[in-house]
Amino acid sequence: MTGPDIRAFRGELLSVPRDPRDDRDAVRHESDGLLVVEHGVIVARGPYGELAERFGRVPTTDLPGLIVPGFVDAHVHYPQMDRIAAHGEQLLDWLDRHIFPAEMAFADRAHADRVANAFLDELLRHGTTSALVFATVHAQSVDALFEASLARQMRIISGKVLMDLGPAGLADTPQSARAGTEALIARWHARGRLGYAVTPRFALTSSDEQLMVAGQVLAAHPEALLHTHLAENRREIQAVAQRFPDAADYLDVYDRFGLVGARSVFAHGVHLPDRSCARLAQSGAGIAVCPSSNLFLGSGFFDFGQADAFGLRIGLGTDVGAGTTFSMLHTAGLAYQAALARGDRLDPFRALYLATAGSAALLHVADRVGALEPGQEADFVVLDTAATPLLARRTAGATLADRLFALQILGDDRAIRQTWIMGRCAWDRTCPTGPAIR
Ligand code: GUN
Ligand code: ZN
Repeated sequence: MTGPDIRAFRGELLSVPRDPRDDRDAVRHESDGLLVVEHGVIVARGPYGELAERFGRVPTTDLPGLIVPGFVDAHVHYPQMDRIAAHGEQLLDWLDRHIFPAEMAFADRAHADRVANAFLDELLRHGTTSALVFATVHAQSVDALFEASLARQMRIISGKVLMDLGPAGLADTPQSARAGTEALIARWHARGRLGYAVTPRFALTSSDEQLMVAGQVLAAHPEALLHTHLAENRREIQAVAQRFPDAADYLDVYDRFGLVGARSVFAHGVHLPDRSCARLAQSGAGIAVCPSSNLFLGSGFFDFGQADAFGLRIGLGTDVGAGTTFSMLHTAGLAYQAALARGDRLDPFRALYLATAGSAALLHVADRVGALEPGQEADFVVLDTAATPLLARRTAGATLADRLFALQILGDDRAIRQTWIMGRCAWDRTCPTGPAIR
């Protein structure tokens, strides 16, 4: 069986399509595996010995390393990449002092184009092939990101930020929020691999009228996601309680405007009352857990024990620029440390699940990416378990679980040897000419 656009990849394959907490057989591993890709989609996957006869004549590339699904970053801000490592403040002051001034520059389309291209290259260098991304309040910031994503064939979901109570120069209105969002959905949703998320920044930067508009637009576009922040930092939570004294809790503010449903993705959820967890579970809404950001802004540690007790859907996000790394590997290692700080143990296979299929499920793209299953798009990463001398020492002769955990604790972009998008090499660390897709 050969065809004009069919090729195979041989190497060690690992994926975790389901949460290993729920399914002990969730880990799929072939120490000598074959991945067969036709027109960018996986058509077969299994042990090389079982598939070699059927696909023996397909051109095959050997990929030395550990092949895992491309990472899915469930919450990240592209306009903040150049404000990463901004010193000195927790959330509300950090926004005022560092972030809002930086986001104002995205009124300039050329600036947005430059940053969007640099941002997507940085995702690829870190093995991230899909992401749910905050842009800015400016519609053209979304155009810039989607255009650059389309050129790289990446699976990116984004939307114009709604923030009519934002600072001067960064505030829209309920009317422009509606018109801008509607126009962007018409222009971009489902074009190539792109998707749209209705994106109110958080409860404090939108008027009641704008939150209502967000709910109405969402109801009119059931294909879109809802993407916002929730219960991240103590002072923010206090301010929300002061402004909305009648709401049962922070989540209830969003609920009152129709923003809580199965397609809602809330970043953080560090400080959630049990009532919020029960409502999240009942609605099917999910949390993008962002441990790097939570540490950097002094927000706290996500409560994995509570989330698991309520059966919450969770994924992992870097939250750059409050997060200080683009690496989903490193973010998985930080999730382990955040969990342990509250007495919970995050298994490395579950951490890999959260960074791939778990985040994909949160973003409602788990049928397309995240598990290296036949029928899915061929986005994958080749990990180098000997990327640094220390990693090489720690992983030599180690079990699969130990190698994976060492990659999460010690790994970063150096451990990403190659990133493949739909069966094409998009980043090769060993190739001096850099990404092949342009
Ligand atoms: N809450 C509202 N806006 C932001 C933001 O840009 N970053 C983070 N981490 N939290 C927010
Ligand atoms: Zn964020």
